[in-house]
Amino acid sequence: MVKPSVLVTRRWPAAVEAQLAESYNTVLNTGDKPMSPAELREAFKTYDAVLPTVTDTLSAEALDVPAAQTRILANYGVGYSHINEPAARDLGMTVTNTPDVLSECTADLAMTLLLMAARRAGEGERELRAGGWTGWRPTHLVGTKVSGKTLGIIGFGRIGQEMARRAHRGFGMNILVQNRSAVAPDALKQFNATQVDTVDDLLPQCDFVSLHCPGGAANRHLINGRRLDLLKPDAFLINTARGEVVDEHALVQSLTFDTIGGAALDVFDDEPRISPDLLQCDNLVMLPHLGSATRESREAMGFRVLDNLGDFFAGRPPRDRVI
Ligand code: DGY
Repeated sequence: MVKPSVLVTRRWPAAVEAQLAESYNTVLNTGDKPMSPAELREAFKTYDAVLPTVTDTLSAEALDVPAAQTRILANYGVGYSHINEPAARDLGMTVTNTPDVLSECTADLAMTLLLMAARRAGEGERELRAGGWTGWRPTHLVGTKVSGKTLGIIGFGRIGQEMARRAHRGFGMNILVQNRSAVAPDALKQFNATQVDTVDDLLPQCDFVSLHCPGGAANRHLINGRRLDLLKPDAFLINTARGEVVDEHALVQSLTFDTIGGAALDVFDDEPRISPDLLQCDNLVMLPHLGSATRESREAMGFRVLDNLGDFFAGRPPRDRVI
């Protein structure tokens, strides 16, 4: 039997690439260069499966092919707002993602950012590396206590719940939750969490707010200037979800005029391009989209894609079908 043809759009962990090469007629992107919309369009005419990730913008333009050979987009990553859903549906493509296997590591990174912002770790490291540290003193880089404070979590899926686990069990934080649907009472009870109705209800009550909702048009600039003004003047905003969820221009205003305590971002609206205004904000911690970047998660994400492909080509419904 002829093996299905598979295109991998970026470099993946070696163990997963080896397995892909064994199971399929696989073309790897050994140069790890992002593909252009024209190259992606060509791929959809050629391969049975395309394995994209968050850096591939599968817009209506990229998916504008008259007759696609590709029947499945097996996405490497949990978020899939980079894939134009109506266009993929029109082409009859199945789309899968990789949930679960990155939840713990992404929540670990959200907690890392929360602690870094509260304890001014970025500022401290910059000062030390620049040779500017003059020694211990009682007033030096004084930050904010985390333990026992109130954390608001927007989006209470798997990653949001892992964040609640760390914050509540590890740091004794009180947990407030905003989620588009009602959260099961048991899921709230394990963290003594309370669900509020709206984002506007949540923001004024929190010392820290961590975003774990999906990206895409529906949540674009969910955190805008008006909502940033609802935060307490010493509150912190953490975003490990998607860049478009936060209006970066409004965030710069809040950080510059100290109307909030600080922020920490792992994702950006136009990544990897970073707004120069963000770079000027000292009370902002930034990381280059590292949420799932552990050896364990990245391998597990790849093997999860393999599971989805295996099911699809065997005629079974893939476990992580999202479209
Ligand atoms: C995802 O999975 O959506 C992340 O952003 C990359 O891990």
